[in-house]
Amino acid sequence: MASKIDSFLVTFALVAATLNAEDGCTLYEVAAKNLEEREIFSELVNKLNLDVWSPAMPERSGRVLVLKDQRATFENEFTAAGIQYKVVVERMEELIELERRKLSLAAKITTTSNRIIPIDRMHSYDEVNDILDNLAKDYESVDVFSQGTTLEGRPIKYIRISSTKFMDHEKPVVFIQALIQAREWVSLPVALHAISKLVMDVCDEDQDLLDDIDWIILPIANPDGYEYSRTVSRLWTKNRRVNDHECVGVNINRNFNIRHSGPGSSNNPCSDNYHGSEAESEIETRAIRDILTLHQGRIKLFLNLQSFGSHVLFGYGNVSLPPNGLILHFLAVQMAASIQNYKDRNYTVGNIGSILGEQPGIATDFATEERYVGYSYTINIASYGNDGNIDNNNGHLVEDLYLEEAAEEVWEAIKYSARFVRDNDFNI
Ligand SMILES: *[C@@H]1O[C@H](CO)[C@@H](O)[C@H](O)[C@H]1NC(C)=O
Ligand SMILES: *[C@@H]1O[C@H](CO)[C@@H](O)[C@H](O)[C@H]1NC(C)=O
Repeated sequence: MASKIDSFLVTFALVAATLNAEDGCTLYEVAAKNLEEREIFSELVNKLNLDVWSPAMPERSGRVLVLKDQRATFENEFTAAGIQYKVVVERMEELIELERRKLSLAAKITTTSNRIIPIDRMHSYDEVNDILDNLAKDYESVDVFSQGTTLEGRPIKYIRISSTKFMDHEKPVVFIQALIQAREWVSLPVALHAISKLVMDVCDEDQDLLDDIDWIILPIANPDGYEYSRTVSRLWTKNRRVNDHECVGVNINRNFNIRHSGPGSSNNPCSDNYHGSEAESEIETRAIRDILTLHQGRIKLFLNLQSFGSHVLFGYGNVSLPPNGLILHFLAVQMAASIQNYKDRNYTVGNIGSILGEQPGIATDFATEERYVGYSYTINIASYGNDGNIDNNNGHLVEDLYLEEAAEEVWEAIKYSARFVRDNDFNI
């Protein structure tokens, strides 16, 4: 009986998947030759409510996902504005199907180990919770907490790792979060790998990371959105709140109480950038806020893991720099260098607003400006290419081998930045 129900659910999920929003989506590369064209690009994507995977900038072309019935309008408007574009992935659903096949194959041949968390596959929300709960049972250094429950009833769980049970108030705290955007899957194995390296598989030369630092890791900041992305609509990015006009979802990383609802977010509930009815309207936003509040004064480094584009980014989202902008930039360069030394990848470093366009209401700015976290970064993890090089056309999609690579190389940046903040306190 149980297996019947299972197969019914699977069939249902497949049927739902074939009806989903990705069918007939096309990925375009868009080039903005100068700042004027960049402005026009921003206006047009807002006007047409397009899904911008990465903005078109004079130094870098952008990627925009366009629905089948929007393609004619998109091409007409961009042609009329004189902005160059070309199709790079004609049928996105084919790439999604390929991803699904590769990942399910990888999941079948994964060997379980009690020494590491396997990261050559994607774990569901339930699997991640089991992993966290088991670690708390098996390891003295680990505690698991819930900070609120989502609208669909999923507790927002995070792990605390400490050799002193968080009792030593002199120790700095590093806070890492992943999956604030539901479709940015690669961030999850990166967070899980960090947990492995801090709990199960600690190298001798990394013992200082535990002796000197306490860790908070929130692996799934947007549980409802992530499960929806896994089972129904792969490119879903918001949470699952039902808004007016039947449109679903608020972008959690536009919902923080810091310059809420400025340009770079949207008041259209159907937009992927919808900032919510008011600041902190969302449970997921308040969960992150409350974790920051609970440990205010001790959290010295906040790392928000996202995809893609190969960036190490710091505030503020309004393009102004924080008082320690120079040292933030310096550390970002060192983080990028530690990734490049490990594996030849070129990460771009800079202010988040100048590299991606203005971003109001974001978690990293809230951490700095409202909770006084001196070092606050978004790492946009590199996308992968078929020959091992970066290929932004794969965007948010992943494959098994790439998940391991990404987790290992970003771990280098995590270690570097954690040691740096331990040695260079900055009170903002
Ligand atoms: C951006 O925000 C910061 C901090 O609130 C403020 O000091 C700065 O003036 C703002 N910059 C712009 C361009 O509005
Ligand atoms: C990164 O940049 C260096 C120096 O410009 C270049 O030699 C190298 O090929 C680049 N690597 C990748 C993966 O693009």
